[in-house]
Amino acid sequence: MTDVVDDLGVFRQLERRLLIYRFAVEELMTKLRILSEEFDSVHRHDPIEHITNRIKKPEGILEKLRRKGLPADASLIDTLDDVAGVRVICPFVSDVYRVEKMLSRQHDVEIVRKKDYIASPKPNGYRSLHLIVSIPVFLSDRVENVKVEVQLRTIAMDFWATLEHKLFYKYDDQIPADFAEELSSTAAIAAQLDERMESLHRRVHP
Ligand code: GTP
Ligand code: MG
Repeated sequence: MTDVVDDLGVFRQLERRLLIYRFAVEELMTKLRILSEEFDSVHRHDPIEHITNRIKKPEGILEKLRRKGLPADASLIDTLDDVAGVRVICPFVSDVYRVEKMLSRQHDVEIVRKKDYIASPKPNGYRSLHLIVSIPVFLSDRVENVKVEVQLRTIAMDFWATLEHKLFYKYDDQIPADFAEELSSTAAIAAQLDERMESLHRRVHP
């Protein structure tokens, strides 16, 4: 019984804390929309195709803490890097790095960590640029720096990652070797497609 009551308390604390993560996502979404529209108006090319976001649910946060061997303590939420996530889909690979550069130049955006799975794709073929950014959220009585995971990728990378995620869910851990090979070869095709589209783009937009 006390466990249930404790869980309810943690749940409420997490929900309260998640509000701040939602504000951080809104701040970041606004920044990205401004970059998208302004760059488009100046250069006649929109470097962002679309943006999505998600906030982890309290259940998901408790699950992740458990997986990391941490107790179900609401104050540990800030130790996780992916409570808030923003995914930026760009037309071309050059746009991915362009958006990263424009974002990192902003004084109130701190790049805490960067994983470039485009320069070094994962063994399964996954490609994307991952950033953990920290941005200030101005509250009524204080400023909180909040971490957001930003995934930047092209339409082709997103197509591959979305379908890989669907397929991979059928298997627990061990993917059959021939399946893994086929999967990484489809990722290579997506990468090739990106290169060819980019070179067409350069011809139209020198
Ligand atoms: P997590 O603990 O799962 O967040 O991993 P991590 O902290 O090592 O971070 P990483 O940057 O490797 O991955 C973070 C997120 O990127 C994942 O939660 C997925 O959304 C996405 N991701 C990473 N690898 C893959 C992959 O192989 N396929 C797909 N579809 N998505 C991936
Ligand atoms: Mg994650």
